[in-house]
Amino acid sequence: MAHLIVYFSHEGQNWVNGEVKDLPKGNTERAAEIIRDAVGGDMFRVEAKEPYPADYQALIARTKEELDEGRRPPLRIAPPSLEPYDLIFVGYPNWWNTLPMPMVTFLTLAETAGKRLAAFCTNEGGSMGMGEREMRRFCPGAQVLEGLAVKGAEVEKEAARLSAWARKIAGIQG
Ligand SMILES: Cc1cc2nc3c(=O)[nH]c(=O)nc-3n(C[C@H](O)[C@H](O)[C@H](O)COP(=O)(O)O)c2cc1C
Repeated sequence: MAHLIVYFSHEGQNWVNGEVKDLPKGNTERAAEIIRDAVGGDMFRVEAKEPYPADYQALIARTKEELDEGRRPPLRIAPPSLEPYDLIFVGYPNWWNTLPMPMVTFLTLAETAGKRLAAFCTNEGGSMGMGEREMRRFCPGAQVLEGLAVKGAEVEKEAARLSAWARKIAGIQG
């Protein structure tokens, strides 16, 4: 059966190896591409209707406020039907030790009951944070498989590990 790779990723200023850097492409998006190249499947990018600011300080302020207030921002594009898929890879950057709020919006709107979900997360040292646990909470009818965390600055170096993990979950030999 086909699988879907859903991800949220933020390009622009980001915290990389202890300093603010401008990333033309987000780390999680890159990880999603590596997984797609390894196992095939369709991609869906989760985006908030109101885009996040590229400026790092503004991004920090908005995301912290959203999290503190438990706000689930509306999405630019509604989740697609998950009907054709049995396995869904769910990629997120660790934000404030948990899921970015647009991913919470996605997970609560998407029909994940009966699906297998596999999380991949890029981070700056905080691993998956509470993200995977939160995924179980927001998707009680889904089976959440063991996910994979990689350091955002090391996504390219981790390509083989990401690919091997995804292939194993997708049941692809070799
Ligand atoms: C608002 C914000 C909060 C973050 N919080 C954490 C955190 O709690 N723990 C951590 O390890 N990394 C944290 N990071 C770093 C990101 O997880 C890391 O840079 C990630 O690779 C970004 O992925 P992206 O480029 O796909 O958005 C944070 C980054 C941002 C912008």
